[in-house]
Amino acid sequence: MIIAIDGPAGAGKSTVAQKLAKRLSYRYLDTGAMYRALTLRALREHVSLDDAERLAELARGMTVRMEYRPRARPPFRVLMDGQDVTSEIRSREVSAHVSQVSSHPGVRREMVRKQREMAAGGDLVAEGRDVGTVVFPRADLKFYITAAVGERARRRHREMRKEGYRVSLKTVQQEMVKRDHMDTTREVNPLRRAPDAVVIDTTRLSISQVVNELLRIARDRMEPRTL
Ligand code: DC
Repeated sequence: MIIAIDGPAGAGKSTVAQKLAKRLSYRYLDTGAMYRALTLRALREHVSLDDAERLAELARGMTVRMEYRPRARPPFRVLMDGQDVTSEIRSREVSAHVSQVSSHPGVRREMVRKQREMAAGGDLVAEGRDVGTVVFPRADLKFYITAAVGERARRRHREMRKEGYRVSLKTVQQEMVKRDHMDTTREVNPLRRAPDAVVIDTTRLSISQVVNELLRIARDRMEPRTL
């Protein structure tokens, strides 16, 4: 079974997707982490973020893996060519440039190919922007997780403060609106709700309420298959 979760930044996708994967003993695929890893790579190697060809080449030559290490914080680690980049890919600099990098069609083609390869064997929770629409259009179950922009910005702001960034809520919200705009208006595979996705608005829900709701729906769908 493949469960696809899409939605805008800060809606709580990663947190609930990881918990859902754990509760179902499924693998977890964070497609955003792949675009972030490529962005980190491009920034480190001073590749122009407009150079579509060079970026697609970088994507082709790069391996990204997700590893679950129960004792680590956070337990899902992102490895780029074997190197743990879990925290670097969340930096403000990477966040500010990742939408630009992920807008190139050649980059997306390469990433989608990798993502489909990683899904071989099934039993996977995959999360991102185009997972239910483009990467796995025939996923068994699709969710579109969203929340009011003010609440998404507040959550992201809290997270950033914890990580030591001294940044105002207003700036975080402005950066988020900008990223939402780029992600929803780009020409190739923009963020869209798949027509068959179940929409969950997390604005007034706790993490455990969201996870329980997703689990309930997932188990409902799984039942007939396991009978
Ligand atoms: O989920 P995230 O915030 O880590 O994603 C980072 C960026 O990567 C997001 O702003 C757009 C891009 N992205 C994408 O274009 N397609 C995906 N499937 C996942 C992420």
